[in-house]
Amino acid sequence: MQRRHFLATGLGVTALGLASTPALADVLTFQRFHAALRQNPRLIAYADTVADQAGEAVVTGRMPADLDGVYFRNGPGRFELGGERYHHWFDGDGFAQRWQISQGKVSHLGRFVQTQKFVDESKAGQFLYSAFGTYLDRRGIKSNDTINAANTNLVPFNGRVYALWEGGSATEVDPVSLDTIGLKTWRSDLKSMPFSAHPKIDPAGGMWNFGGLPGTDKLVIYRIGADGELVTSKVIDVPKMAMVHDFVVSARHLIFLIPPYDLVRGEGKSFAEMHEWAGNGPGARPLRVMVVSKDTLQIRKVFELPAHMVFHFGNAWDDGDVTRFDVVLHDGQALARVGGLMQGESAKNDPKRSFAAQISLDYATGTAQVARLLGASEFPRVMPQVVSSRHRKLALVSSAPRNAHMILDTVNLLDTDSGKNDSYRFDAGWLAEEHILVPRRNARSETDGYLLGVAQDTVRKQTVLTVFDAARVSAGPMALARLPYRAPHCFHGNFLAS
Ligand SMILES: [Fe+2]
Repeated sequence: MQRRHFLATGLGVTALGLASTPALADVLTFQRFHAALRQNPRLIAYADTVADQAGEAVVTGRMPADLDGVYFRNGPGRFELGGERYHHWFDGDGFAQRWQISQGKVSHLGRFVQTQKFVDESKAGQFLYSAFGTYLDRRGIKSNDTINAANTNLVPFNGRVYALWEGGSATEVDPVSLDTIGLKTWRSDLKSMPFSAHPKIDPAGGMWNFGGLPGTDKLVIYRIGADGELVTSKVIDVPKMAMVHDFVVSARHLIFLIPPYDLVRGEGKSFAEMHEWAGNGPGARPLRVMVVSKDTLQIRKVFELPAHMVFHFGNAWDDGDVTRFDVVLHDGQALARVGGLMQGESAKNDPKRSFAAQISLDYATGTAQVARLLGASEFPRVMPQVVSSRHRKLALVSSAPRNAHMILDTVNLLDTDSGKNDSYRFDAGWLAEEHILVPRRNARSETDGYLLGVAQDTVRKQTVLTVFDAARVSAGPMALARLPYRAPHCFHGNFLAS
């Protein structure tokens, strides 16, 4: 019975409340965005997508012969239905994409994940359910998966591909056709439990993941074997649990950062809107760093850092009795600010609000230290072969310091030891999405491979796959593969070599 209690009081049911709110707000969001888009063509990156896509890209430059495989990506595609528009970027329905790179040619396929939510709402011609950042009182929510948007990551693992959304189950899709296969239940008592969009794949096989249950101050940990079967899971108590989007894994530890929000329920509030910042003023709370031992799944230590919001991590490694990891730290308004994109709002470019840092946790002294790495940036990634072990190279996309607004237009490969940054800024009107590191076969270093990503050319309204030599990012892309259309802006993706 306890498991059912977790489910019933997790993200899906209580977090989204039962009270009503007029639909007018959604119509206004629609009108505001379209008025802003007429003034600022760059906002096309956050416009609605209405249909599946398939096409061949036009390749320019030199596409490396040894870059052969599929780049799986995912992000929200549908934001609008029946004249209404979601309030938050994180709300849109998942649009899975596969970029096939083979013998210098690039083809693209993009398809909406056929979640129950997407199917029901398509049939109805209107949004039926509340989403992460948009409250709607239209229909009862039976479980977390009633509102599962499957919109955050697309992860190939053990011969299967999963579309992930942090508030509910993984959704399996076909690796070739992207047909939706269905929800993944790792064990019957874990049905519909949150499974985060940021699992960590061990280079030796197997996968770690977690699910946040902010409504019940708990967090569930999953350990999945190289055979794709659940090895173990455990529920951990986390007082004052709030949104936890990602985690980071070293050889011996799982590390979670719990930002200081109070979850304040209220009539007509979405889950995002319930997050009230508690990091300033009287009674301010810190950012908690919860370190869990991998071998026991017990909390080893809790450290404290100055109050910040966190979305994403780079990598962690154990350095004697110190654990070091990379993270991007934001101010407490970041969650709401990201949502503002849906109304066409552009945030100021302010390195005090957001910066990448390396954190060092000293178990002997109980102290945590912050060393700044880079200004306003996001989407940190490392080479897959160094996950959980010592790394020196961190890929990030950033906003050039001269930008008045927060525009992710620069890709970086940062040496976290020396601080040296190998970077490239795209032309005006381009937006860089997440870029990932892809090793060459038998790679001998963290720069022996490619920095692979996607950018939006908002001037020509086209989406472009980008390939850099990881050893010479500042030389500019060695190849570009341009689609004849615009594909939805993704959050995350992963490369599966042929
Ligand atoms: Fe993410």
